[in-house]
Amino acid sequence: MTSNVTWKSRWTFILAATGSAVGLGNIWKFPYITGEYGGGAFVLVYLGCILLIGVPVMIAEIMVGRAGRSDPVHSMSSLGKTAGRSGKWGAVGAIGILAGLMIMMFYSVVAGWALDYVAQSLSGSYLQKPTAEIEQNFSSLLSNPSEQFLWHTIFSLITASIVAGGVTNGIGKSVDILMPILFGFLLLLLGYSWINGDFSAGLHFMFDTDFSKLSSDAILVAMGHAFFTLSLGMGAIMAYGAYFPGKASIGKTVLTIAALDTVIALVAGMAMFPLVFANDLTPGQGPGLMFVTLPIAFSNMAGGQFFGTIFFALVSIAALSSSISLIEPGVAWLEKYGIKRPLSTFGFTGIAWLGGIACIYYGEVFDALDYLTANIMLPLGGLMIALFVGRVMPRKMVAHEVGMGDSILFKSWWFVLRYLAPIGIILVFLNSLKLI
Ligand code: PHE
Repeated sequence: MTSNVTWKSRWTFILAATGSAVGLGNIWKFPYITGEYGGGAFVLVYLGCILLIGVPVMIAEIMVGRAGRSDPVHSMSSLGKTAGRSGKWGAVGAIGILAGLMIMMFYSVVAGWALDYVAQSLSGSYLQKPTAEIEQNFSSLLSNPSEQFLWHTIFSLITASIVAGGVTNGIGKSVDILMPILFGFLLLLLGYSWINGDFSAGLHFMFDTDFSKLSSDAILVAMGHAFFTLSLGMGAIMAYGAYFPGKASIGKTVLTIAALDTVIALVAGMAMFPLVFANDLTPGQGPGLMFVTLPIAFSNMAGGQFFGTIFFALVSIAALSSSISLIEPGVAWLEKYGIKRPLSTFGFTGIAWLGGIACIYYGEVFDALDYLTANIMLPLGGLMIALFVGRVMPRKMVAHEVGMGDSILFKSWWFVLRYLAPIGIILVFLNSLKLI
């Protein structure tokens, strides 16, 4: 039961995967966790995890998807069987689908906040206001469930309508349009903050490394975030890989996606921290960072309303191109049981939507879902995928499927996937459990 649907071109695959990777993780989460965990040293560990664990696991995921040509559950189970091992590896895909559902629950609430701020920017609600009032503005959104409910529902509906349209016409066509807009907006904003921001304090905060600030929790969060930001360990990239056209080498594609994702996270940090320091705010103020600092900055700047609107529209678009990939693996899986795409999409998104309502009313649910998925489920999923490709699938089969020949590139990837990535993930887990 393999799928013969493919992306229009390799380029659409790159846009879809980059769209999945670039999201709230980069613009909302990365700056505030960097703030909470003390800056430079955290950023360094995060970058190390992207390169040594994230990139190799991403190659593995795309390879499994492309070789299995199915949803994560069926791809892994059929490859497990072809390799002469167990079909039970499909369970890794199933846990991934569950993780996607759990992430979507809080993700669409935050995306809803971004939509709310598009509306607020358009109406000028935070313009020419004192700092305290703008801070208050965000807390009142948090204590207003019906407003959050509205935007969360709108965001869920938009996500579902795209995924229901299918891979080629729904997801493919949307990313072909959304991603160039996203890149354009980002360049515009970079120019704006380059002219208006004070970079030096922000840069120091992000790149001065003080390892004494690095707790074991910080290391776990940095690794978890590397998985989260690259959309790894839960089958999103694997599901997209199933529609990869042709047999081109995966390595270069992955480097493009990882580089874009990393650059966008760093740019988001460089746009935000200079403003944090310039306005006497604290970088460690948590999830509200983006919704407080930027409106403060935009509030008094020339063109603030225009650029504020552009900024929150950018965040919403980034969130949308990620949320569709949170839903797609589950939908592709349900389709295999003959459930029509629109029904499975709205059903699956509906469950996430209900979970989102729980997140709106109970902050603990929100925090627990975020912590559990990013710091535990995704790294564990990534570990299982690395073990599956590096140790369960025969080397010959992997070499054939990944399309890198027997080059030095292949050999180094193979080594990292078999040894470095799994050992790294296990060490971080042991360290955070205080066992080492
Ligand atoms: N990578 C997305 C982001 O950074 C989140 C995501 C995680 C999307 C896992 C899909 C799968 O916002």
